[in-house]
Amino acid sequence: MAKTERRESFRASLDKQPHEVASMFDGVAKRYDLTNTVISAGQDRYWRWTTRKALALRPGERVLDLGAGTGVSTVDLAKSGAWVVAADFSQGMLAAGRHREVPMVAADAMRLPFADASFDAVTIAYALRNVADPDLALREMLRVTKPGGRLVVAEFSTPVFGPFRTVYMEYLMKALPKVARAVSSNPDAYVYLAESIRAWPTQSQLALRIADAGWSRVEWRNLTGGVVALHRAHKLG
Ligand SMILES: C[S@@+](CC[C@H](N)C(=O)[O-])C[C@H]1O[C@@H](n2cnc3c(N)ncnc32)[C@H](O)[C@@H]1O
Repeated sequence: MAKTERRESFRASLDKQPHEVASMFDGVAKRYDLTNTVISAGQDRYWRWTTRKALALRPGERVLDLGAGTGVSTVDLAKSGAWVVAADFSQGMLAAGRHREVPMVAADAMRLPFADASFDAVTIAYALRNVADPDLALREMLRVTKPGGRLVVAEFSTPVFGPFRTVYMEYLMKALPKVARAVSSNPDAYVYLAESIRAWPTQSQLALRIADAGWSRVEWRNLTGGVVALHRAHKLG
């Protein structure tokens, strides 16, 4: 008797309905860390290291790593000696990172289960783009940060050099889903990745949105020619 095949591959639409986004990440969870390293050609380690440096964490500080997924970013941040908690709304991603020795909390970025002024620093890596209402998430992150505390957003962005930008966008739209098909447990999610990067605000547009959410001293730096941008900001003391 022929077996009915269950279709595992699934992608969210660009309106980023939370249940679709969470299911999509549940579907990539098992091979998320490996796929990341492959499709970023190993740059992910450099991007994480730079994110940690930008946060300037000190031992004993309390830090929120929002949209932490499998906790791969959290482990890196914890190397600073700070106490770092991973928060994510994909049960699959949290489960795939269960072996990591970091505290993990199921949480929605748009309604954080933390008291006001709980953290010295808050960071979100490659996740803000996936949140249905990123402005609300930025306001929630401000609420849970202590006065004087800081924010670092790491996100895919717009390459600054025109010819490279064209090649990169071609690479993204055409090659990335094909590469993902070879390594990911949910290749359709990488079609979403390419489309969501193209639709994401540029560096200066995102800086304005961070400031509009109430953050001060917003600045950014480009990594890998703007493939990734790190936005840093502070909460007024
Ligand atoms: C691309 S992964 C990034 C994981 C990790 N920060 C890293 O650097 O590898 C994006 C994560 O954002 C999470 N996410 C998206 N929207 C969210 C929301 N509204 N609340 C909490 N997590 C969310 C997804 O579940 C996913 O695990």
